[in-house]
Amino acid sequence: MVQPLQNISVGNSQEQTTQKFSGRDSVHAASNVCSTPYGESIIRIDHLTKIFKNQRTVIAVDDVTFDVKRGEIFGLLGPNGAGKSTIIRMLTTLLRPTSGTACVDTYDISNNPEKIRSIIGVCPQNSTLDVELTAYDNLEFYGKLVNVPDGALDDRIWQLLEMTELADRAHMKVQTFSGGMRRKLEIVRAFIHHPLILFLDEPTIGLDPESRREVWQQISKLNEEKTTIILTTHYMDEAEKLCQRIAFVDRGRLIALDILDNLKRLIPEGDLIEIGFERINEEVLSAIRENSLINSVEVKEGRLHISAKNGSMVLPAIVAIFEKFSLPMSSISIHSPSLEDVFIYLTGKKLDDPSNGENQPSGRRKTP
Ligand SMILES: Nc1ncnc2c1ncn2[C@@H]1O[C@H](COP(=O)(O)OP(=O)(O)O)[C@@H](O)[C@H]1O
Ligand SMILES: [Mg+2]
Repeated sequence: MVQPLQNISVGNSQEQTTQKFSGRDSVHAASNVCSTPYGESIIRIDHLTKIFKNQRTVIAVDDVTFDVKRGEIFGLLGPNGAGKSTIIRMLTTLLRPTSGTACVDTYDISNNPEKIRSIIGVCPQNSTLDVELTAYDNLEFYGKLVNVPDGALDDRIWQLLEMTELADRAHMKVQTFSGGMRRKLEIVRAFIHHPLILFLDEPTIGLDPESRREVWQQISKLNEEKTTIILTTHYMDEAEKLCQRIAFVDRGRLIALDILDNLKRLIPEGDLIEIGFERINEEVLSAIRENSLINSVEVKEGRLHISAKNGSMVLPAIVAIFEKFSLPMSSISIHSPSLEDVFIYLTGKKLDDPSNGENQPSGRRKTP
């Protein structure tokens, strides 16, 4: 069963909701709203919209509102064409919004682009390393561009090269590097001026599994230095592995935002517990069914299938019932829904559905 998009509230309709979206419109009416710190948020995005009008009109970002907390790794997760890069490009002041606004730290993206550029680091989706230059020269060139003081630059470059374990290749041309090495170099390059916030757009796209793991370690290391990291990805495992909170984006719209566990709990069926047994009887089944936290109990292919909102919470009670009736269990497993399951539940399609990316204007809104 799939809920229509307009019925999905951002965050979570349950108690655990981590972010609420009401009550900011009036605050944003004030002109210098960004200069006032807003709780633990470091980025506040308010009704941000981007419409491209070329041969065809594309609503790339459609009335998006959310906050990013100071110090977190925040994931923008969605299929190709969802609008992730466009959000990042607006937040990093490379693109002006069609409407809406955003505060990055205490600066407005439309009024203070230079200030914002001095406190952020950006690693764009498509590599901008100069492959004809060495690793050291790439870092030096960029360091000068972002005004790292000359006296500090050499030390900083070596620090970053050590961090990425590329110090022994410092004076080799980047064209001799693997995809993973290039990506790590590009990520730390964005970090050369100790930015408050680091934007990583699809940091592991096209990398092999081993390189992806290395890049993940790199990202975690940078986050330990208290940097807020916003990353976009269309890889579910990446978001699951790295991000404290995840925003699902689809066709320009934000469809859900929460911590991983709460996103998974959006699926009403919840967790699936499978129990292997030698013998079972009706008394056991009805005792299990009496538990109000359990949604359904079925015997399928010689195993007991139990769906429950929170599998680990109900498991002890199930084990106790088997013990009470002196029936041995041969196996127990709990399967939590994956992020992919959540995406399918919310949108009715898979992440790699061929219809993704078609952000055509629809009946949902009028283009201004
Ligand atoms: N400069 C542009 N001109 C026209 N359309 C664009 C432009 N940039 C992006 N788009 C369109 O906007 C939508 C969102 O793109 P993008 O933000 O790159 O998505 P994602 O990063 O999630 O893959 C897509 O339909 C894309 O084709
Ligand atoms: Mg992109």
